[in-house]
Amino acid sequence: MRLLVTGGAGFIGSNFVHQTVRDRPDVQIVVLDALTYAGSEASLAPVRGSVEFRKGDITDAELVDELVAQADVVVHFAAESHNDNSLHDPWPFVQTNVIGTYTLLEAVRRHGVRYHHISTDEVYGDLELDDPAKFTPETPYNPSSPYSSTKASSDLLVRAWARSFGVQATISNCSNNYGPYQHVEKFIPRQITNLIDGVRPKLYGSGQNVRDWIHVEDHNSAVWAIIDGGRPGETYLIGADGEETNQQVVEAILELMGRSRDDYDLVSDRPGHDLRYAIDASKLKEELGWEPRFGSFTDGLAATVAWYRENEAWWRPQKDETEARYSGLGR
Ligand code: NAD
Ligand code: TYD
Repeated sequence: MRLLVTGGAGFIGSNFVHQTVRDRPDVQIVVLDALTYAGSEASLAPVRGSVEFRKGDITDAELVDELVAQADVVVHFAAESHNDNSLHDPWPFVQTNVIGTYTLLEAVRRHGVRYHHISTDEVYGDLELDDPAKFTPETPYNPSSPYSSTKASSDLLVRAWARSFGVQATISNCSNNYGPYQHVEKFIPRQITNLIDGVRPKLYGSGQNVRDWIHVEDHNSAVWAIIDGGRPGETYLIGADGEETNQQVVEAILELMGRSRDDYDLVSDRPGHDLRYAIDASKLKEELGWEPRFGSFTDGLAATVAWYRENEAWWRPQKDETEARYSGLGR
C-alpha cells in the first residue's frame, strides 16, 4: 500500500508514521507537511530512511495532485490545530483546514483514491458538566471556536464529496490526545515543561472544564482499524472513556513530578471555552472490534512526563516563543 500522510511532522501524524513503520512493513509512506511552527522534521527522526518526506502546503493544488496520483490511500492529519491561536488569528485555520481539505478532496476525486479524514469531537460543541450524555455520530454539529468551526466545515465537505461524487471517504472524530511529540502550546505538555522550568501550571478559569483524554497510540490504532475496515461515507467517533477535569489533570502531573497537588495558578479563561467533551465510541468498537490498549490515564501520563524529561532537545526550541505568545494573552 502506498500511503500519503498529510501533517505527518505534527503531533498525531508523526506518531502515526512511527507506528505504521513499526507495525506495517508493507506500507510505503510519503509525508506531506508544510513544517509550520507546529511541525518538525525532528519528530520523524526515528523513522528517517523509512519514509519519503515532501515539504509543501496542502493548498498547493499542483503538488497535491502529483502526490495523490501516486497514492492508494490518503490520511489527512494536516491542520491548524490550536484553539487559542484560532481566537487570535482565524485566517490560517480557514486556509489550511477548509481550503486545504477541499484541495485534497478534489485530488482524491480525480484519481479515485481512498481518503481518511482526521477530525475532532469539538465539531459537536460542548456538553454541560452535569449532563450524562456523550457525543455520538448522530450528535448535531455545533462548533464554538474558529478552530472547531473550520474542522466542522472540512468534515461537511468530506460528507458532500462522498455522497455527491462517490469519493471513498471515511471520517473520524477523536477526543483530546496526549503522548510524545505534542507541541508545548497544548495543555499537558505546557504544564509538564513549565514544571521542568520551575514555573507553576496554569489552569484557565475555574479548572473545572472536562476533556476526554486518549493516548495518541490508541487514536492511531483506531485510524488503522477504520482504514482497514471502515465503510466509505461513514463517521466513527474515537475515544477511550478518559474524562477528567483540567484540575484533576494538573494535580496528577504535579504528583507525578513530585510537587504538591495545589501548586498551580488559576489564570483568565479562554473566550467561549467549551465546558465538556465526552465520546461514545461504541460504533467503532462494535463494528470494527477496536479497543484502546493504554490501560490507565495515570500510566500514560507518567510515560509522557518521562518522555518530556528525556527529550528536552526536541521541545526546548518551541518553549520561549510559545510562552511569549501566552503572556501576550495574559495566560
Ligand atoms: P499539530 O498542530 O501538532 O500538527 C499539524 C501538522 O500539520 C504540522 O506538522 C503542520 O506543519 C502541518 N500543517 C499545518 N498546516 C499545513 C498546510 N497548510 N499544509 C501542510 N501541512 C500543514 O496537530 P495534531 O494535534 O497532530 O492534530 C492532527 C489532526 O488531528 C488535526 O486534523 C486535528 O484537528 C486532529 N485532532 C487533534 C486532536 C488533539 O488532541 N491534538 C484531537 C482530535 C483530532
Ligand atoms: P488544549 O490542549 O488547548 O485542547 P482543547 O482546547 O482542544 O481541548 O486545552 C485542553 C484544556 O486545557 C482546555 O479546557 C483548555 C485548558 N488549558 C488550561 O487550563 N491551561 C493551559 O495552559 C492550556 C494550554 C489549556
